[in-house]
Amino acid sequence: MEEGLDVKNIGLRGVKVADTRISDVDGEKGILIYRGFNIVDLAQSSTFEEVSFLLLNDHLPTQEELKKFQSELASERKIPPAVLEYMKMLPKSANPMDVLQSAVPVLGSYDIQLREETKEANLKKALRLIAKLPNMVAAWNRIRNGKEPVLPHPELSHAGNFLHMLSGFLPDPNTARDFDICLILHAEHSFNASTFAGREVASTHAHLYAAIAAAIGALSGELHGGANSEVMRMLLEIGEVSRVTSWVSERLQKGGKVMGMGHAVYHTEDPRATILRKICEKLAERTGDQKWYEMTKAIEVATKEEFRKIKGKEIYANVDFYSASVYHMMKIPIDLFTPVFAISRISGWAAHVIEEKFAEAQPKPELYRPDADYVGTYCGPEACEYIPMGKRSS
Ligand SMILES: CC(C)(COP(=O)(O)OP(=O)(O)OC[C@H]1O[C@@H](n2cnc3c(N)ncnc32)[C@H](O)[C@@H]1OP(=O)(O)O)[C@@H](O)C(=O)NCCC(=O)NCCS
Repeated sequence: MEEGLDVKNIGLRGVKVADTRISDVDGEKGILIYRGFNIVDLAQSSTFEEVSFLLLNDHLPTQEELKKFQSELASERKIPPAVLEYMKMLPKSANPMDVLQSAVPVLGSYDIQLREETKEANLKKALRLIAKLPNMVAAWNRIRNGKEPVLPHPELSHAGNFLHMLSGFLPDPNTARDFDICLILHAEHSFNASTFAGREVASTHAHLYAAIAAAIGALSGELHGGANSEVMRMLLEIGEVSRVTSWVSERLQKGGKVMGMGHAVYHTEDPRATILRKICEKLAERTGDQKWYEMTKAIEVATKEEFRKIKGKEIYANVDFYSASVYHMMKIPIDLFTPVFAISRISGWAAHVIEEKFAEAQPKPELYRPDADYVGTYCGPEACEYIPMGKRSS
């Protein structure tokens, strides 16, 4: 940045900090594309494995390429026993996102290519992370419940295998496919907070595992990936469809937030929410339990109406809104909703870290180093006089 160039924008809204070839969000039209392909088409016809290949390699795989990628993913699902031992030492009450964030560099210590900074080695490390993260999340859930982790099932899809490792049972194929679509929808979203955190760490030449651990930390907050668990807690707190309108109205009147609504980039409906709403409705029909779908829909309607009254503008559901009841109906524990986001977003994060490291969308790698205006204590150009401890008045 040029000396004195005044581009200060707290929160960096709308400030472009890089070029990317990985995805694009059209916040006005509500369009999301991964490597040129519309998310709607990918959700309709693709799989998480194919989308991960696309994100990492910048083209849709041929049949041969996909077969190889799928079998490599399946063969990399196991995690080193030491990672499981590490998790077993943690308190059972530990937050699953904290467990995941701390276990990623532990996993990295067992990667023989950890410090190999070629593109090829980073693609291999990315594949290992995509393959192993679901196992780590499922294993932690088993460990904290005093159960042995379930071994990965080599014949199941990425999505189906996660549900299997979580419950110990073979998932029903419709649920596995719905979960696969959820993974596709969460895989990538341009320069969001966690991706930016990961890229920023990668820009220092830190390794992929360090960058991913940073991204996981950023995702854990309730204004980002943590919102899906918060949506479910809100649904449980409201408890009944009949209480929705008054709850939402009181919440918004008091200046509180309705989680899962609103977005920093979309000013229309998030295309992922549109697809997730349909999945939620289908799941409710299949399970015969309409409660969560109906309540989520009612909260959406009430929030939109109340928001219009209070702020005089529109608000729309984001990706986290319907995913909460979808995951709940899939019997995923509430505090695993955000780790589930992470096992999907790992593909996007890894693609971004590689793009950052190898300057694939810009002329050369650049260390992120923003600036800030100092607004703290000022005693003049020579700074404040340092007073020794014994001479300071209380
Ligand atoms: C995502 C989020 C942080 C984007 O925030 P943002 O870019 O600041 O949104 P905007 O600038 O458009 O907000 C405009 C106004 O709407 C309010 N608003 C935004 N989302 C809201 C929500 N979910 N509930 C109530 N009010 C909300 C803001 O507080 C702001 O009010 P103000 O003008 O009085 O300050 C915000 O919508 C939010 O907190 N949503 C809930 C958390 C969530 O679902 N996060 C996941 C995002 S994918």
